Amino acid sequence: MDRRDFIKFVSVGAATLYLSGCGLPSARKKSDKHEVSAQESISGGKQMKIVVINSSPHSEDRSTSRYLAKRFVDGAQSAGHEVFVFDAANEETHPCRGCDQCGMDGDCIFNDAIQTKLMPRMLEADLLVLVTPLYYFGMSAQLKTIVDRFYARTTKLSGKKSLLMATAWNTADWTMEALDNHYETLVRYMSWQSVGKVLATGCGTRSMVESSEFGDVAFKIGASL
Ligand SMILES: Cc1cc2nc3c(=O)[nH]c(=O)nc-3n(C[C@H](O)[C@H](O)[C@H](O)COP(=O)(O)O)c2cc1C
Repeated sequence: MDRRDFIKFVSVGAATLYLSGCGLPSARKKSDKHEVSAQESISGGKQMKIVVINSSPHSEDRSTSRYLAKRFVDGAQSAGHEVFVFDAANEETHPCRGCDQCGMDGDCIFNDAIQTKLMPRMLEADLLVLVTPLYYFGMSAQLKTIVDRFYARTTKLSGKKSLLMATAWNTADWTMEALDNHYETLVRYMSWQSVGKVLATGCGTRSMVESSEFGDVAFKIGASL
């Protein structure tokens, strides 16, 4: 295996941390450095409302990105946070038509699952978690559909905390570059506070992601919020 596999885990206000070619023990050791006390934690010790947006068309038991999401959710729930999971690949969703009926702060013309189920949860959420398989070096169309629909409530969705989790087959160190840049641009535009990224390269199948260190990292981020 190409040992350039890496975990990229960014904590709020902390420098980007690359764990190069590490096995689980070293991932644990490095991640431990990011564990913070209750007062210093992202939630400040309060229960957070978290919305996780899955976007893989693969089933729960086959998907690599859903596996990471599940590990994160397990961690977050173990710390007492409230989690709502939205399945962008299987719910009824429509891409933004750019009609501007919403006026960037109103109802969308589509009264679909994004409007009725997801948007109310996102509006009250503290943390939005974007989860995607890497598709042609960007996010899946299923996730992009959701992101474009942010348009209807751009201002009200600004200022939230965010987290990105992605899985990919490739292991080159530039594999996640375009997705990462897009996410960082989104964070900047939306005035979000990014609490981390799990960019799981070399995780093209369920067995690959399950035997990687990324699942533990996802759990730890959730548990240490
Ligand atoms: C349409 C499509 C495009 C893909 N594009 C990439 C890519 O650009 N780079 C990459 O490393 N893997 C790519 N892959 C592989 C997936 O990202 C990888 O298998 C991932 O683990 C799938 O996650 P999932 O099981 O959660 O859907 C692609 C797969 C598909 C189906």
